Amino acid sequence: MKRKKIVAGNWKMNMNIDESKNLVSQLKEISAANVDIKIAPSFTNLYLTNSLLESSKIDVISQDLHHEQSGAYTGEISADMLLSIGVKTSIVGHSERRKYFNESDIILSKKVNSAIQNSMNVIFCIGEELSERNNNNHFEIIKSQLLNGIFHLEVSNFQNIIIAYEPVWAIGTGMTASSDQIQEMHEFIRNLIKSNYGIETSESVRILYGGSVKPNNAKEIFSLEDVDGGLIGGASLNASDFSEIVKAANEL
Ligand code: PGA
Repeated sequence: MKRKKIVAGNWKMNMNIDESKNLVSQLKEISAANVDIKIAPSFTNLYLTNSLLESSKIDVISQDLHHEQSGAYTGEISADMLLSIGVKTSIVGHSERRKYFNESDIILSKKVNSAIQNSMNVIFCIGEELSERNNNNHFEIIKSQLLNGIFHLEVSNFQNIIIAYEPVWAIGTGMTASSDQIQEMHEFIRNLIKSNYGIETSESVRILYGGSVKPNNAKEIFSLEDVDGGLIGGASLNASDFSEIVKAANEL
């Protein structure tokens, strides 16, 4: 089945408002008929970037959300707040949230639930540490992250789910997983979805790869059978690199 590719840029904790305006003005012209393009600026830049990109093909998404709708949660942002500024998709479970902010599978499943209850879309991130791969535990880790994070959902909820496989050791390190490692894991993930939710869902859900995707490796990675695009960190902060990556996806 042909699935539309996604290229999503995760800006992480980069770009102040002026830098964001500047980057957005360069990204505005990107259009690629065969690709869903997304960018995830920080919370302080969401409203402005979304307004600036209103008439473009780029969808502005959030890097995270809190699982409660409102209340005494100092410093947090809810699905309702995101929707109120036109942001309809959030990344959930990025390895940096898991690692530096102690986000457990339980918290992440609550975040997923909140997004789904609010009809938002989720890019749910999973990925193993290098030590887990070296101990040959990577399939088990990925399976448990999926089981605990999203496999409690109803089949219909999968219309709102995108999965991003990001081996932690490949994020920001310049060390990309090999094509064989990527395809093998993406196929494993798709098969798990198939056994839990059936072939229609497994064939339609989009699975992105993340971890040091750059203009020079994007095409090879995106052309793998079970890879439906990428979640891009470092290279999304540079307009020409990001455009090149979008172009690579568009040509497939
Ligand atoms: P990277 O980050 O492209 O800088 O490796 C990917 C990510 O964290 O999503």
